[in-house]
Amino acid sequence: MQLTDAEKAMLDGREGRAKAKAMELLVRYGEALGAERLVETKNVAGTWAVSPFMKDFVARGMDAVYSEFNLDSDEVVETPHTVVSSCQLIAGVDHRNWRIQGVPEEGARNQANAEAYFGRRGIQQLATCTPYQVGNVPVRDEHCAWMESSAVVYCNAVLGARTNTEGRESTGAASITGRIPYWGFHRPECRFATHEVEVEFPVDDMMDWGLFGYHVGEAVGEDIPLLAGIRHTPSLIKLKHFGAAAASSGGVEMYHIPGITPEAPTTEAALDGKTPRERLKFGDAERRRAYENLNTSARDRDVDFIMLGCPHNSIEQMWLIAGLLDGKKISPNTQLWVHTPSAIRQVADRSGYTRIIEDAGGVVMSDTCPAISRFMPKGTRVTATDSAKQAHYLPALTGVQTWFGSLGDCIDAALTGRWNGGL
Ligand code: F3S
Repeated sequence: MQLTDAEKAMLDGREGRAKAKAMELLVRYGEALGAERLVETKNVAGTWAVSPFMKDFVARGMDAVYSEFNLDSDEVVETPHTVVSSCQLIAGVDHRNWRIQGVPEEGARNQANAEAYFGRRGIQQLATCTPYQVGNVPVRDEHCAWMESSAVVYCNAVLGARTNTEGRESTGAASITGRIPYWGFHRPECRFATHEVEVEFPVDDMMDWGLFGYHVGEAVGEDIPLLAGIRHTPSLIKLKHFGAAAASSGGVEMYHIPGITPEAPTTEAALDGKTPRERLKFGDAERRRAYENLNTSARDRDVDFIMLGCPHNSIEQMWLIAGLLDGKKISPNTQLWVHTPSAIRQVADRSGYTRIIEDAGGVVMSDTCPAISRFMPKGTRVTATDSAKQAHYLPALTGVQTWFGSLGDCIDAALTGRWNGGL
């Protein structure tokens, strides 16, 4: 791999042991992928303070766990300060609501200590899977090093910035070197569409965008779809749900919507003037199949728990939810958790949305989600969600039955305790 003088200096240890280990990791990782060089990045989204490792932090010390999990290093190095803007993605513990989550006090304390430790070393505690909703909004062609599949696909396809789906170790190394291997989606020639998916009806609401994404992910796997026939300009919420679903049922990290995706003003530009490898469609049959696939785990219509906010809710979604719950009470047999980044929660607090949701009997959660934390209301057997991603993962990770449907279906389930949704 070709390294610049500055990169060689880091690798040789002239800037300390941590940077030397980070550069060793990046060179090893880059060479395994066939990268010929590194590229500078000033935008890292990764994970440092995460609850599953909190016990380790206490028992082994922060530096030991940081060295192993953020640098893949057997040698214990002192945790350095970041050199580029780096944010913490979602973690497992809600600062305010850890008791409701069921997190032991010690776990909450450990999480807070770890956040303070890494905060002092420069990690911005955004604590969300949607950094682009709370201030980390890279510009077109900006090289990033992001983890979290739903954020990666949004970064590439909607913002036109460039990232692969990185890991905890590579983002750790990127945050203290400002480098990441130049391969995959960093290279313009690797970003063109390979498949075309024609939409046969006006996909417009959030549920349909989730179903569409779920179908596309299953159909193209890790390839790059071009979405044709979109009749309504999709909002942030819809693109967020589409990408999260496509990255769950498949491994979609990039897609093109002509006129929406920054580097795809036209179909020809999206395809680099080539013919797509395959032409697929999303019509009534595909929509129904995606819906049925997402609801295979669910049988009982009495719902114990409704989860909203996967990926984390935007302020628009908080407003929508508050509007649907205003003046109502959720069923005593069910619980409702609404997940949003803590920065958005502050706006929801000031706008009165949190109060409306809490007066109805719901809880506004931040910093976490059930799929990451594995914490749900005690005794939950049946859940409901408006997120294709959450419906994909929750049954597999926790064994609960999960209904997928529209936001309206989910609010109805919260109010009645029954699942009445359907296509
Ligand atoms: Fe975010 Fe958890 Fe969903 S990390 S994308 S809310 S599974």
